[in-house]
Amino acid sequence: MHKTLIILAAYFCSILQTSPALSDSTRLLGPKALAHPVISEAGMVVSQDVLASQVGAEILAAGGNAVDAAVATGFALAVTLPRAGNLGGGGFMLVYLAESKKTIAIDYREMAPAAAFKDMFLDAEGDVDNTKARFSIFSSGVPGTVAGLIQAQNSYGKLSLKQVMQPAINLARNGFEISPDMADSLSTRRERLQKDAATKKYFYKKDGSAYQYRDRLVQKDLANTLRRIQTTAGDDFYQGKTAKLIVEQMQRSGGLISMEDLANYNVVERTPVCGDFRQHRICAMPPPSSGGVHLLQMLNILEGWDLQSLGHNSAAYIHRLVESMRRAYADRSLYLGDPDFFPVPVAQLTDKRYAKTLRESINLDKASRSEDIQPGLSENERPLSTPSQQQESTETTHFSTWDRWGNVVSNTYTLNFSYGSGISVDGAGFLLNNEMDDFSSKPGFPNGYGLIGGIVNGIQPNKRPLSSMTPTIMFNTEGDPILATGSPGGSTIITIVMQIILNVLEFDMGIAEATAASRVHHQWLPDNIYYEPGLSVDSKALLQKMGHIINDSSGRLGATQSIYKTVDGRLHGAADSRRQGAGAVAQESR
Ligand code: DON
Repeated sequence: MHKTLIILAAYFCSILQTSPALSDSTRLLGPKALAHPVISEAGMVVSQDVLASQVGAEILAAGGNAVDAAVATGFALAVTLPRAGNLGGGGFMLVYLAESKKTIAIDYREMAPAAAFKDMFLDAEGDVDNTKARFSIFSSGVPGTVAGLIQAQNSYGKLSLKQVMQPAINLARNGFEISPDMADSLSTRRERLQKDAATKKYFYKKDGSAYQYRDRLVQKDLANTLRRIQTTAGDDFYQGKTAKLIVEQMQRSGGLISMEDLANYNVVERTPVCGDFRQHRICAMPPPSSGGVHLLQMLNILEGWDLQSLGHNSAAYIHRLVESMRRAYADRSLYLGDPDFFPVPVAQLTDKRYAKTLRESINLDKASRSEDIQPGLSENERPLSTPSQQQESTETTHFSTWDRWGNVVSNTYTLNFSYGSGISVDGAGFLLNNEMDDFSSKPGFPNGYGLIGGIVNGIQPNKRPLSSMTPTIMFNTEGDPILATGSPGGSTIITIVMQIILNVLEFDMGIAEATAASRVHHQWLPDNIYYEPGLSVDSKALLQKMGHIINDSSGRLGATQSIYKTVDGRLHGAADSRRQGAGAVAQESR
């Protein structure tokens, strides 16, 4: 059983009803908010943590735009959702600017330190040392979150940085009530997280016991770090006291990140990858994310069939999804990496003619075997080893914001695994990422998500590891944005985002239904259909008859946080109920 993809079962978030920190309007959301969309005629914020969504919604109400709200939410999540919200990680932000009708992709992915090298995670036998790659001081890339959020706010926000960061500082300084979800996640990871003295100090009680639901978590060092970031517009993190604390942390254990690495960190504004699926335009994150490329590639293949008539999650439908996924992920293993180091064939992979050849290679009655599928654009050798399954439940987090002027933000950021490497910067109060594991440490050898890569995603100094994060914005036939979505889930992110889009467009679901519907996933290797418990026994049996490998249920896949604009112009916010604590919060006043 693919236990490794098991994500916490969803249950209603009682914090919505009980936390005194929440205003009446937020409490009104109640458990029903998870089954129905939250509706607004002004603005909306949806994130994995309702306190952070509320921070964003209050920034909208104070006159901020979608970017101000996103930056405020991002900094708030760094306080209230330490397993994935972060200062010590990186991510991607897609921004739609209503006035210029432009979509911008802000890349604030972590970069390998200058002293990083290709074989740094190989042991004496030449095998990948997974502990070193995932849970050591070497696991961290140079963090990009602070630079990314600040650049976004500075370039496209309306309010001051002081204003948008203040709620996060208050939450860190005054504390907030631990949610059931946070209590559980800290308790189950106690052994791993207490290996690091600073992490133990920051996230556990003085006697080493875990915080309980409703205990208060005050983060003084984090509050001070946020304050320094606020007053120096981020310079402190990359050149000041926080930078020194990061480097001291590295030097205590022989880590590689230096003052020069921090000073040289750069955010890149990229052109999103955009393409059409039937009547709708979809824009998503370009490389170094594989998300946008393969989202469009799979949709291009699927466009050639009448999916609606097959019925949602019928075997015939899932067969087409899976065969498209299999081919896209085979290509991912060979062609995708940091475009600043290797040319990524984005145009070829997203070409409708290429999709047609892939579609024609699919037998509609019979499953193909992944071992027979080669990356499609060349004759290169297929990697030989069989991927292992990931050992650790993982976290990343997505949030979407929308303002009354029609600006939209779709942002996914991460520490990679839950609580990243598990190592905190002592004196600074935040966790470091383990994003170096997203590189391919050895061609053909799987990373934490069973994903294989080659030289294009090999480790090189100053390079960004390949990502699957897929912040996405979809547009209607008039070119107006109608959907912002994205998800955590490592390798499963791209297929999850695709199913949200298909559920809305092909099966006419509202965004809350589209979010709740059972998901499937395939990633070429291992050759297995991952699926959620809601998949019907009939579909499963028919898929097996077609020759698909389909083991036990994979638990829950991802946690999307979406905003959908319906034809009446209203915003429908849908927080995913798969992971507790998420919330859609509507802006209260215009
Ligand atoms: O960038 C990536 O693709 C991964 N580091 C994302 C990790 C992730 O989604 C874990 N969350 N469930």
